[in-house]
Amino acid sequence: MNKKIIIAIDGHSSTGKSTVARQLAKELGYIYVDTGAMYRAVTLYAMRKCYIDKHHFNREALERFLPFINIKFEVNSKTGLAEVFLNNENVEKTIRKLDVSNFVSQIAAVSLVRKKLVEQQQLMGKDKGIVMDGRDIGTVVFPEAELKLFMTATAKDRAERRYKELIDRGEKVTYEDVLKNVVDRDHIDSTRKDSPLRKAEDAIVIDNSNLTLNEQFSQILNIAKNVIEGK
Ligand code: DC
Repeated sequence: MNKKIIIAIDGHSSTGKSTVARQLAKELGYIYVDTGAMYRAVTLYAMRKCYIDKHHFNREALERFLPFINIKFEVNSKTGLAEVFLNNENVEKTIRKLDVSNFVSQIAAVSLVRKKLVEQQQLMGKDKGIVMDGRDIGTVVFPEAELKLFMTATAKDRAERRYKELIDRGEKVTYEDVLKNVVDRDHIDSTRKDSPLRKAEDAIVIDNSNLTLNEQFSQILNIAKNVIEGK
């Protein structure tokens, strides 16, 4: 029998990490965990309870509330996809909106938030057979992961894709707002003190600026199979 491994997928925002991670997990029969959804759910909680104005949140209040924030995933029996719950409320759709995207990097920079979520993520991966995507999976959550991928593409390509996705979902956003969000998040995620976004030394870089989804997937599936089969 093939061995079960941990596959860590990190990279810049809107590089399609979750699409490829979900496909890969399905193909391999692995669990998929979208760690960005966990940071987004905590952000939604903070937006409701801890924001003073658009730019300032009450960090001390958030840290105090942390033990009362419960994040879990449940598979939707109709779609077969895992959805994220915040204190038993299904927030899968709400957390993808641009206003949550605009706050999430600030909340993801809070060390106590990271500590709580990283512990939960490590527990989810303890039996391996998992594909996890995020920013610090190959560097902090599972530095010993058997396969690490680092996905990137130009900011313009990423913003175009994300803009189309949001418009298709009926959100009223401009391309300029989406591009600004992509660039701002890259900056905050890469420069924060705790677990900044960076490529693990042993990660394989996938620049998908000029790859179709299918090309990218078959390339990544090949790499994963080789590692699983020990080639
Ligand atoms: O993957 P995403 O775009 O949904 O992630 C949302 C934000 O959460 C991202 O801007 C940075 C943060 N994040 C993080 O700091 N660490 C992770 N492992 C995953 C996401």
